[in-house]
Amino acid sequence: MNDQLKPPGQILLSEQQIENRIKELGQQITNDYENKAPLLIGVLKGAFIYMADLARAISLPIEFDFMAVSSYGNATKTSGVVRIVKDLDIDLSGRDVIVVEDIIDSGLTLNYLRKNLESRGPTSLEVCALLVRSGRQVGELGLKYVGFEIPPDFVIGYGLDVAEKYRNLPDLWSYDPSLD
Ligand code: IMP
Ligand code: MG
Repeated sequence: MNDQLKPPGQILLSEQQIENRIKELGQQITNDYENKAPLLIGVLKGAFIYMADLARAISLPIEFDFMAVSSYGNATKTSGVVRIVKDLDIDLSGRDVIVVEDIIDSGLTLNYLRKNLESRGPTSLEVCALLVRSGRQVGELGLKYVGFEIPPDFVIGYGLDVAEKYRNLPDLWSYDPSLD
C-alpha cells in the first residue's frame, strides 16, 4: 500500500481473515435457508463491501435491497433516534429477511431497525453483523450471525469510515486519531 492510503493505526483483521470468516458465514446461511430465497438488506453505507462479499459466499437465489439511516445526535455517540434516509424498494411481507450490518456498537441503531422492519410483516428476520464491539450493548440483541467480536477501538476500512474516508482499505484497521 502506498502512503496516500495508509491510515493512522494498525491492522486488526486482515483481508484474508475477513474473507475466511465470511465464507463460513455464507455457508451457515446457505445451510440454514435451504430451499428459500432470503432478502438481504444492507445498511448503507458501511455494509456495502461486506454485503458484496457475503452475498457471493451464499449459494442461494438471494435478492437485495438497501436502506440508509442516520442517527440524530452528535457524531461519536448514537442517540438511538434513527432517521430513515433511504427506504427499501421491496415489500417485506412473507419474506425471509437478513439484515446485513457492518458493526454493532451500542445496538441502538439495530434495535430501531429491527422494530421498524418487523412491523412490515416479514416471515423471519435475522441479523448478520460483521463486527460486534464487546461489552457495549445494553439489552439482548438476538444476533444470529456475527463475524468477529472486537475490542473498544474505533475501526476503519472494509467499508467503515471516519468522516467518509478509508472505506476502501482492504483490511480492517484500528484508528488512532492522535496519529492523524
Ligand atoms: P450503534 O447504534 O451504537 O450500534 O452504532 C452502530 C453504527 O455506528 C454502525 O452502523 C456504524 O455506522 C457506526 N459505527 C460504530 N462504531 C464504528 C467504528 O468503529 N467505525 C466506523 N463506524 C462505526
Ligand atoms: Mg452502519
